[in-house]
Amino acid sequence: MGKGVPPSRWSPLGSLLAVAVGFVLAALVWVNVVGLVRERASQAQVDLYRHQTARLYSMETGPQSRSRWTARRSLVESENWDEERGRCGDEAETCSLTFRLPPQPVWDSSRFVNRTAGILDITSPQTGEVDAGFVCVLADVVLREDHWITSAEPLIDVFPDPTKPGASFDLVHHMDFFFCEAGTSTTRRYSLDDPYVCSHDAFVQNSLPLNVKGRVRKFLEMTIPELHPSCIFGAVYDRGGAALSLPQDLGILVGPSTARAREIVLQAHYLAPLGFSEAYSPVWDSSGFKITLRRVRPRDSAAGQGKHAVGLLALNDYGLNYPKGRSRHTHSYLIEEAALRDSLKGDFADFGGEVQPVAVHLHGHSLTKRIWIDHLRGGAKVGEFGRIQSYDAHSEDQSFFFLPPQDASRPLRSGDSLRVNCEVDTSSAGRDVFYGVSHFTEMCSAVVAYKNHNPANPSNYVKTANILSTCTDISRCFSAGKGKEEQGGARGG
Ligand SMILES: *[C@@H]1O[C@H](CO)[C@@H](O)[C@H](O)[C@H]1NC(C)=O
Repeated sequence: MGKGVPPSRWSPLGSLLAVAVGFVLAALVWVNVVGLVRERASQAQVDLYRHQTARLYSMETGPQSRSRWTARRSLVESENWDEERGRCGDEAETCSLTFRLPPQPVWDSSRFVNRTAGILDITSPQTGEVDAGFVCVLADVVLREDHWITSAEPLIDVFPDPTKPGASFDLVHHMDFFFCEAGTSTTRRYSLDDPYVCSHDAFVQNSLPLNVKGRVRKFLEMTIPELHPSCIFGAVYDRGGAALSLPQDLGILVGPSTARAREIVLQAHYLAPLGFSEAYSPVWDSSGFKITLRRVRPRDSAAGQGKHAVGLLALNDYGLNYPKGRSRHTHSYLIEEAALRDSLKGDFADFGGEVQPVAVHLHGHSLTKRIWIDHLRGGAKVGEFGRIQSYDAHSEDQSFFFLPPQDASRPLRSGDSLRVNCEVDTSSAGRDVFYGVSHFTEMCSAVVAYKNHNPANPSNYVKTANILSTCTDISRCFSAGKGKEEQGGARGG
């Protein structure tokens, strides 16, 4: 006031610029509005996913006290293991370590027997019965040197079956190894002891299903933190499967020089027989895994004892939705080139853009009759990586098997893709069949073991770990139910 009118800040050129900028802004807003409206249906997913992510990664999930960050540990038995040096002893070329779960009370978590709550806390969406539960423990061993794992043998407890005199039953539906970065045992980010973290593999780098695309993907990816220390998928036993024994020239490398295999986590998925709570008595289970190890020594290669490191890729569809009443229904899902390229970035860089599948493990439940993996190049099928023509769940069909020579010598190149196929018979199902870890659920998954892997390269398995998953029926993967229902969304391994 009294100091004169301030000179106008708006020259004609400025106005023109302002109009132009305004126009651009308006256009941007418009494009975004259109985009958001188009994807309005996805908003519900966004909210659900944020809820789920928040739950997985909030501090509330993990215990706050330092003593409780340290995960429960396995029991350990060993042969020729030098604990002080953290390596095989000098008595023999190999050694073995057996990791068993400390005895687990297998009964309903709402039931107390001798003041102990059980570990079964997942309700079957089909029967309404609480029939499943997950337990994770840290393998209680310190690996101070690199070792090759040359075999992994499941040691599954069996119990006399009260409903079938003379027969026995077991409770472990799957037992997985996960290989982890250093520090799993003391992480504050997540607790292996938490059944929710354990059943959702939340100690593995979390990632979106591959078929979540576009704007929703971009937005959601921002909500997923990069997780360290984190784990990758390791060896697997599924009910009925046999030991994995690798040939002379192959091994799974674990130890200090690896990027993601310095500690080992053991995960058990318990699935009680139907009618367990009425017809069976509570039991304590102490199943485990025995691994055979061989020290890595520089002179090995010279002596012809060198091995190729094996990498593993787990392929899964968490959104299975099989229509009931079909005697032959084929379900397929694609693992696109981009996903393979991302996950195997280090290996493609280190081995001239090629990895070589050597063995596979195919997994479905009792309605699954056939499983195979197509190898695609430029969209066309160039071969297969494993097929079981008449699949029998809970049998030896759950074992790893080595590929025939023509497949074990056709590399998977950077730019190739994979298609997993499952043929199911749902004619006996009373309702549609979904992905799940309880009775009357299904899976259509595969684990591919490949050569041309450099376990020391940290650019492998970064964003999605080595678990490449899709979700055919998106609503099934983004369910935010409450309590036990929520656990029905358990990922399994
Ligand atoms: C509970 O304790 C009793 C008495 O010690 C024992 O006989 C029984 O086996 C225990 N039950 C379970 C499931 O641990």
